[in-house]
Amino acid sequence: MIEEMSLEKIGIDKIGFYTPEFYLDLADLAQARAVDPNKFKIGIGQDEQAVLPLDQDVVTMAANASAPILAPKDRSEIDLIIFASESGIDQSKAGALYLQRLLGLNQSARAFEIKEACYGATAGLQMAYDHLAAHPDSQKVLVVAADVARYGLETAGEVTQGAGAVSMLVTRAPRILALSQPTAYFSEEIMDFWRPNYSDTAFAEGKYSTEQYLRFLEIVWHDYQQKTKTQLTDFAALLFHIPFTKLGLKGLCQMTADADQETKARFLQVFETATIYNRQVGNIYTGSLYLSLLSLLQKGDLSAGAKLGLFSYGSGAVGEFFAGELQSNFESMSQLADVETLLAQRQKLTVAEYERLFKQTLPIDGSTLTIDPISQHAQFRLTGISGHQRQYK
Ligand code: HMG
Repeated sequence: MIEEMSLEKIGIDKIGFYTPEFYLDLADLAQARAVDPNKFKIGIGQDEQAVLPLDQDVVTMAANASAPILAPKDRSEIDLIIFASESGIDQSKAGALYLQRLLGLNQSARAFEIKEACYGATAGLQMAYDHLAAHPDSQKVLVVAADVARYGLETAGEVTQGAGAVSMLVTRAPRILALSQPTAYFSEEIMDFWRPNYSDTAFAEGKYSTEQYLRFLEIVWHDYQQKTKTQLTDFAALLFHIPFTKLGLKGLCQMTADADQETKARFLQVFETATIYNRQVGNIYTGSLYLSLLSLLQKGDLSAGAKLGLFSYGSGAVGEFFAGELQSNFESMSQLADVETLLAQRQKLTVAEYERLFKQTLPIDGSTLTIDPISQHAQFRLTGISGHQRQYK
């Protein structure tokens, strides 16, 4: 059984999501790159990928994900704002500060940005837990994961790009997922994926990175079992960081290798519902695990009390395995994120249109640019850049 070391329940009370209004069908990309479409659909396990227009960035995506879930009371009670991203817009100033202003959040708050590749949001979530556990007067923490995954045109990683943001309100007596302690974590300096300051596209040792993901999973899952005496069958679902669904599936197969057929089939069925949105959005880096959680909450048929096991991995690299228990209002609370509408209103791009958008970048020489509205449904947009400062509306 999972050991509960904390008597007070702390965890995710609300989840919001945003992804851009444009997407690329990976069957079209396969055709353009002279690749068998089944390689992308089955071999990689992705159907579509979100494409970021010039009037969106990680700040606007984070604000667009957060605004629909935050009531006025939430905005005034949040006293910690954690912005997790590996595609931040500034080397110094935290995205959390832009978010605080755009959303009208409490100013008696700590606000900062956190980075460790796709692990950042998990670091933020665990920090939110610790903050609430340590400060009885503190009520709410906002953890937002926002990223754009860019590898470059005609690269091996191109098929695993994407963009989006997941916003999580962390509270006591959470209505979606109560987090459990202890957790298991492991870190080691490796070069599997990185993005130097001078590059707006990532570098990856593709195959090596997938091997490291699976190695870290093995280490933290083993450690978690030792620490908590948990068994695989204690969980109703296993969730993974999803850079592309095939790798999550490999993680699942590794964890369930010794299980009976019925258990394997049960976890596989849950995995498929937990990756429906990831298949359509692509890698959103640090939000990907939490997009998978949202997919499971909205598309799965789990019941309150179900235990979820979550594997977070951020290249470089840090891995963590942790658990949570679904709370009685998880179904209604997870509907706050209207993912179906966001996906339904997206516009499909041709490969030529995608390539054009991909090449559009902001000036880096201090010149002024005004950006006419591109995103028709977004509440927050980037309207331009002037004097090296991004302008938001
Ligand atoms: P690749 O070289 O294009 O693909 O790179 P491949 O040749 O290895 O093929 C992929 C799979 O498709 C293989 O299956 C093939 O057999 C299969 P597998 O052996 O893996 O089971 N295949 C087909 N299947 C059906 N029909 C066909 C067919 N042809 C081939 N006709 C790679 C793939 C993922 C390496 C590349 O896309 C890449 O470099 N991506 C970026 C790196 C990445 O996503 N790494 C993941 C682990 S690191 C991580 O998760 C962290 C990350 O999110 C960043 C962060 O932490 O911030 C990336």
